[in-house]
Amino acid sequence: MDTNFPYQETAQATPPLSDERQVARSAATRIVHLLLLLVVLNQLAGSQFMERPEPGDESLSLYLIHQYAGLAGFVVVAAFWIWTLVRRGETSVARLVPWFSLRRLRDVGADLAMQAKRVSRGHGPDDNDGALASSVHGLGLLAVTAMAATGSIWFFTHGTPAAHLAMSAHKVIANLVWAYLFAHAGLAVLHWLLGSDIFSRMFWPARRAAR
Ligand code: HEM
Ligand code: HEM
Repeated sequence: MDTNFPYQETAQATPPLSDERQVARSAATRIVHLLLLLVVLNQLAGSQFMERPEPGDESLSLYLIHQYAGLAGFVVVAAFWIWTLVRRGETSVARLVPWFSLRRLRDVGADLAMQAKRVSRGHGPDDNDGALASSVHGLGLLAVTAMAATGSIWFFTHGTPAAHLAMSAHKVIANLVWAYLFAHAGLAVLHWLLGSDIFSRMFWPARRAAR
């Protein structure tokens, strides 16, 4: 069998790891993910160029755009969590945050072992939204939530010790969001290069033609 098609080759060999393992995405999930992606990219890119305005400078600077887009980001992140809580037949909150359940942790461990086995045998990592991938997606979502929350706390408590603390945390957690973005987007591209229809699943309804 041609090793360019790692997913087809081992699809039968790797049984589902949990009751919820599937990859169908609703339109609402796609939309809220896209909004989140746009906000986070705007925040990360803008943060590289923005400067604190001088006193008396009323112009709409990148600094102000960062704050208002960030507040909008808080709403988007809240919508993501609320939608994840109410939706059915997609990734559950318990799967995104498996750290408090032994059974879920075992799923993550088993998925990690299975992925390591695949890679050691020269196959690409499984793209089927397993327990490990979902737990990492959850960590990314938590990091972005923390960014939106600390930024908002700073905004509404300006000049207080709480604002100072929140902004210090904002700057530290920013590094985690950068790392998540590169790892998450990079792995998605890797899956796609290996023949997966991972982008169709998350961004547009049409499935990628089988290769
Ligand atoms: C998804 C949400 C957000 C992301 C991903 C984000 C990202 C970032 C990043 C990467 C930095 C640069 C950190 C550094 O200098 O090391 C930053 C700084 C900052 N952010 Fe955010 N941010 C978000 C939300 C917010 C919100 C809601 C506010 C306020 C309403 C805010 C206000 C600020 C301020 C004031 C700074 C510091 C600017 C300075 O250097 O003085 N951010 N943010
Ligand atoms: C930093 C901003 C981002 C955050 C917080 C984020 C968050 C997430 C989350 C939580 C999921 C899982 C959704 C679910 O299970 O219902 C997910 C899936 C996905 N994301 Fe992102 N994402 C971000 C940026 C991106 C970018 C830039 C890309 C494209 C290069 C991307 C591509 C995907 C894909 C393809 C999936 C589906 C993965 C799969 O089916 O296994 N994301 N993302």
